[in-house]
Amino acid sequence: MKSYVLFLLCSLLARIPSSQGQSDEAWAALNASVSGRLYAAVPFALPCYSLYNGKRAVVNEAACTLIRNNYTTNSIRAEVSNGYMSLQGEMCLGDPLDQCTLDSTVLPAPEPAPGASCNQGSVPSYYIEVLEISDINAALNFTKDYRLPLVVKNSGHDYLTRNSQKGSLALWVHKLQGLVFHGDFIPEGCKGDLATGRAITAGTGVSTGDIHNFANVHESTFVGGYSPTVAASGGWVLGGGHSVLSPVYGLGADRVIQFKIVTPDGQLRVANQCQHEDLFWALRGGGGGTFGIVLEATHRVEPSMPVAVASIKLPSNGASENSLKWIELIARQSLVWGKEGWGGHAGGLYLTYMNPVPTIANLTDGGAGAKSSMSVATEFALAAGGSSVVEVLPNYLAVWNKYVLPGALTTAGVARVLATRLIPRKLFEDEAGIAKLMNFMVTVQKLGFDPRNFYCPIGTPFVFEHATNSQPQTQNMSSSPTSVNPAWYNALWDISTSLTIPWNASYAERLQNMTAITRATLLAEELTNTDGGTYPNEANPFTPNWRESWWGDKYAALLEIKRKYDPEGLLKCWKCIGFEDEDISSDRFRCQGRLQLDVDSALEKKSS
Ligand SMILES: Cc1cc2nc3c(=O)[nH]c(=O)nc-3n(C[C@H](O)[C@H](O)[C@H](O)COP(=O)(O)OP(=O)(O)OC[C@H]3O[C@@H](n4cnc5c(N)ncnc54)[C@H](O)[C@@H]3O)c2cc1C
Ligand SMILES: *[C@@H]1O[C@H](CO)[C@@H](O)[C@H](O)[C@H]1NC(C)=O
Ligand SMILES: *[C@@H]1O[C@H](CO)[C@@H](O)[C@H](O)[C@H]1NC(C)=O
Ligand SMILES: *[C@@H]1O[C@H](CO)[C@@H](O)[C@H](O)[C@H]1NC(C)=O
Ligand SMILES: *[C@@H]1O[C@H](CO)[C@@H](O)[C@H](O)[C@H]1NC(C)=O
Ligand SMILES: *[C@@H]1O[C@H](CO)[C@@H](O)[C@H](O)[C@H]1NC(C)=O
Ligand SMILES: *[C@@H]1O[C@H](CO)[C@@H](O)[C@H](O)[C@H]1NC(C)=O
Ligand SMILES: *[C@@H]1O[C@H](CO)[C@@H](O)[C@H](O)[C@H]1NC(C)=O
Repeated sequence: MKSYVLFLLCSLLARIPSSQGQSDEAWAALNASVSGRLYAAVPFALPCYSLYNGKRAVVNEAACTLIRNNYTTNSIRAEVSNGYMSLQGEMCLGDPLDQCTLDSTVLPAPEPAPGASCNQGSVPSYYIEVLEISDINAALNFTKDYRLPLVVKNSGHDYLTRNSQKGSLALWVHKLQGLVFHGDFIPEGCKGDLATGRAITAGTGVSTGDIHNFANVHESTFVGGYSPTVAASGGWVLGGGHSVLSPVYGLGADRVIQFKIVTPDGQLRVANQCQHEDLFWALRGGGGGTFGIVLEATHRVEPSMPVAVASIKLPSNGASENSLKWIELIARQSLVWGKEGWGGHAGGLYLTYMNPVPTIANLTDGGAGAKSSMSVATEFALAAGGSSVVEVLPNYLAVWNKYVLPGALTTAGVARVLATRLIPRKLFEDEAGIAKLMNFMVTVQKLGFDPRNFYCPIGTPFVFEHATNSQPQTQNMSSSPTSVNPAWYNALWDISTSLTIPWNASYAERLQNMTAITRATLLAEELTNTDGGTYPNEANPFTPNWRESWWGDKYAALLEIKRKYDPEGLLKCWKCIGFEDEDISSDRFRCQGRLQLDVDSALEKKSS
């Protein structure tokens, strides 16, 4: 009798699917259908730990040494399936014990404490190394059959935790490389008279740095972001994509002319101005991980051209007061500089601006126009004991190699959270606007955000062709070529405050940090009211009114397109189009949800 019960129990157990509801056979079948490219996903720092999810693990000294030495190196993380630049991609925000991170305040990162366990956090359970369209189809089928969350992971730069999910199956698309140059690109299905000029088709996994180098070989300029490892045909362009050249040449979303994508129904589709126009529009700002799995994107490029650079620095030990004066000076110059075509980054202790407009970027006159345009800033910096270099370089790659790369290689391995806001030109037009802006700086300073750490990308399409100081504030789909928040086309600045959640912060400390940054987010919204907007790719994941803030009046049309192409909601990520309020308290999003709810109540308590 006893043995019979045991037998029954055992045979039952054998049929009970593994922890997530899928049997080992189902996983094995999936693995076979992706030619063995299904793998268990493990956290990045696992080789340094002797416990994994509470069970014994073997430390791999060589791998661990590499990880500890290069914990903050972006390129290493961008190349691997489990590499997340911002640690909130791999930690479970709501549970400080559920993570596998190292202390990155010193390098090499210290070894974990003896007995510490490397826990899975929000790292997916499995991933597929995507090489073929059938890999994507197999994953979509599997997700449909087992309701298992599916997530797309590319370079891992996301700030919003959209590139990972606890308990999910990840499609790792980084291996979709490939670069093609077109002298005069005709979007597929369009007539010849719709040729778009020179263009580059880049696989979704291709890094921004590789595209810049490839463009230069073809005597062209790619209008790309400020990080060599960001995937330009991935989350960057899908979310909008700003560049230091955007004031003159537009956003990535303004410039992209075609996508190839596998939609959730498993179909390979071409989206451009002649076919699947609605999908094309949604992919130009509606965000990654939402409408399908992008295979490649084709971007317009410009001929090679000289670019002026201004690199102006205050002494690094300057006072906060001086930074406030500096920010005010930059704010006062912004409208003039914006009209002249300058883009770049303003900081509390520096500015690094670039300009491709021929009268400013003039190699023959040694950049005289650039120097005189920047003279007020140069004088301020020199008087404060700082430095100024204003020069013209022969092409963008030279600017990239000299001014961008050195600062962009080792920024990973911290849980950095941003609060950003697009600031309309209106605020720069009169004293009242400048006063409002400076008042904001002082208010957030009191919340713990030092003006010396002020950071502000200048990458809005300010003098770009159809963009639009003249365009109406509210635009619907048919009148607007992209689905980014219309605030982009009226804005000059994208102000940003940020904080780093310490790698080992307790729950109470995380709550304090996220409440502070969310308070700053709300203050930044107040500063601009409905004229402003926020760039979802560089937003606070805990933004309460994210739909309005990130997409403005575009949200409704985006949701309609989401429902058309993904009626079953196979792709769902944190605060992506189609994410519902109920999802915040769902088990699926528990890593973010619990902390979000506590931040919401902390803010309510304060305000009531
Ligand atoms: C150091 C750093 C510098 C940055 N600099 C800039 C900048 O200069 N300009 C700027 O505009 N932004 C910048 N960003 C923000 C960047 O644009 C976003 O983080 C963007 O989401 C990165 O996309 P990714 O594909 O490289 O990263 P991932 O984190 O891998 O993916 C981001 C999102 O896109 C989705 N996704 C990626 N590939 C695909 C695909 N093939 N199909 C469907 N969905 C996909 C993912 O699911 C996820 O939701 C920067 C970020 C960091 C961390
Ligand atoms: C999938 O198959 C490959 C090749 O047989 C194997 O190396 C890999 O471990 C398998 N993946 C899983 C999750 O079992
Ligand atoms: C990793 O760090 C070590 C030590 O700093 C360095 O020598 C090595 O080049 C780094 N590796 C990579 C791939 O960056
Ligand atoms: C996915 O499912 C469809 C419909 O059942 C089937 O035709 C297709 O072969 C499947 N694809 C893969 C790669 O499993
Ligand atoms: C560049 O400077 C030279 C020398 O001053 C001048 O002749 C030329 O017109 C300038 N080019 C542009 C585009 O302003
Ligand atoms: C959208 O814009 C077009 C062109 O401006 C206009 O004809 C149309 O009525 C608008 N639709 C809505 C729903 O506002
Ligand atoms: C976090 O680690 C630092 C050392 O990096 C240590 O000083 C601190 O006490 C730790 N904090 C917590 C909450 O464990
Ligand atoms: C974030 O939390 C850490 C640890 O509690 C704290 O030292 C820091 O001041 C916090 N930062 C902000 C801006 O709240």
